[in-house]
Amino acid sequence: MRGMKKVATGFVPVIAVSRKAPKPLQRQIYDAYRTAIIRRSLRGGQQIPSTRSLASELGISRIPVLNAYAQLLAEGYFESRAGAGTFVSTALPDRHGSGASELQQSREMSSGPRLISRRAAALRSYAPQPWIYTRGAFSLGQVAFDHFPLRVWSNLVARHSRIIHPSAFLYSDPRGTRDFRETIATYLRTARGVNCEADQIIVVSGSQQAIDISARALLDPGSQVWLEEPGYRLTSDVLSLAGCQLIPVPVDDEGLNVAEGIRLCDSARAAYVTPSHQLPLGATMSASRRLQLLDWAQLSGAWIIEDDYDSEYRYGNMPIASLQGLDHNSRVIYIGTFSKTLFPSLRLGYMVLPPDLVERFLTVRRAMDIYPPYLHQAVLTDFIRQGHFSRHVRRARRIYMERRSKLVDALRKQFGPELPILGAEAGMHLVVMLPKECRDVELAKKAAAEKLWLWPLSLSYLSKNVRQGLILGFGSVTDAEIPSAVRRLKALIETM
Ligand SMILES: Cc1ncc(COP(=O)(O)O)c(C=O)c1O
Repeated sequence: MRGMKKVATGFVPVIAVSRKAPKPLQRQIYDAYRTAIIRRSLRGGQQIPSTRSLASELGISRIPVLNAYAQLLAEGYFESRAGAGTFVSTALPDRHGSGASELQQSREMSSGPRLISRRAAALRSYAPQPWIYTRGAFSLGQVAFDHFPLRVWSNLVARHSRIIHPSAFLYSDPRGTRDFRETIATYLRTARGVNCEADQIIVVSGSQQAIDISARALLDPGSQVWLEEPGYRLTSDVLSLAGCQLIPVPVDDEGLNVAEGIRLCDSARAAYVTPSHQLPLGATMSASRRLQLLDWAQLSGAWIIEDDYDSEYRYGNMPIASLQGLDHNSRVIYIGTFSKTLFPSLRLGYMVLPPDLVERFLTVRRAMDIYPPYLHQAVLTDFIRQGHFSRHVRRARRIYMERRSKLVDALRKQFGPELPILGAEAGMHLVVMLPKECRDVELAKKAAAEKLWLWPLSLSYLSKNVRQGLILGFGSVTDAEIPSAVRRLKALIETM
């Protein structure tokens, strides 16, 4: 049976009693608990307030409460544990539960039209596929948590929890703390060649929120937006929700094909790009394409949303500065995240805006979630200022480089030199192309049954003209695991 764990929450159930009612108080309390348990508002294992505290909450004497509890205990609705208190019985049969959910379903069926927005209805289903939210070979979006400087991090979290200033308990600047924004600005000017001051920065809960705010602030229902094809599907979801018309523009080994974008839709309102490391195919946008894109944006009055999600991890060649740094016309909204450099559950990222857009973006942000949580901004400010961030990124880069080399070597060994491997120069994933007849989704489902996590490339396409391949993450796979995981991959492909 589920819900067997004893849970002591201290919550007081909603029990209304009235001295004027004909029913005695003891009976009212008994009935209220019994109904709540049958309806499953109270569940097995959940703690019940002591008789003293319930009597005090209800403003009545303890006697009727004691009597009601005694009856509920005698009938098996409650159980008591010496020294721990009184709990809803874990021994009650589950049929109470299924009855309640049937009741709920029948209420929904008989309650008339249940309209939801067309945009929500049209969005692709969230139903999680087996290769999402997994760990190990070759799960995507995973960092090397085994090398994270946990002690330094937890010391800073503990310190900032202890010394928290009263102002940190209050609502504050929708941009995020000044200290944090100053720190991010220094980092971006230095390491990413971004032109920015702290006042242009908004701290967000990850790139996803940055894209959402951008869509709400810049785009209207029906606005046409260029998206890389194949590309990052969570961006197309946000833009679809905003009612935009998505224009898939092909990418090649120089990144988004700007000429093709102009041919398809010259008048698009915006373009979303990942120029440092195209997701998923991995190209770095060439200098000439960058200039072409900026020229088009300037001439047509379009916005460019630059998602610089994993540029800290480059292996073979020199780091590549941001597209925003080349922009002399304030056309670029620059977005970055700590999901790759630190860890995704932190939910912290930032956006850098053209100065004239800041006020509108802030107004939109305030309407969404008001402002970002305080604690991790303070922690991260110190983490960066004390040098831990750059030390960690340097170390992580070395680890990912080793994992990447091991993975490429193992792939070459198993599949030979002809296997097309794309995007291995940067980031924490690479792509292997599959022969057309090998269906990547089918392969990924088969692999998931054996706990091998493969992300089908075909799902990254908006149009029907898809290529079959696998996006393999190597962020959280140890060197030792890689050769055997690749051998398993080979064996699976041979069964297809
Ligand atoms: C293209 C791209 N942008 C952004 C992110 C990170 O998103 P977030 O910052 O919301 O965690 C990812 C994560 O995989 C990504 O692939």
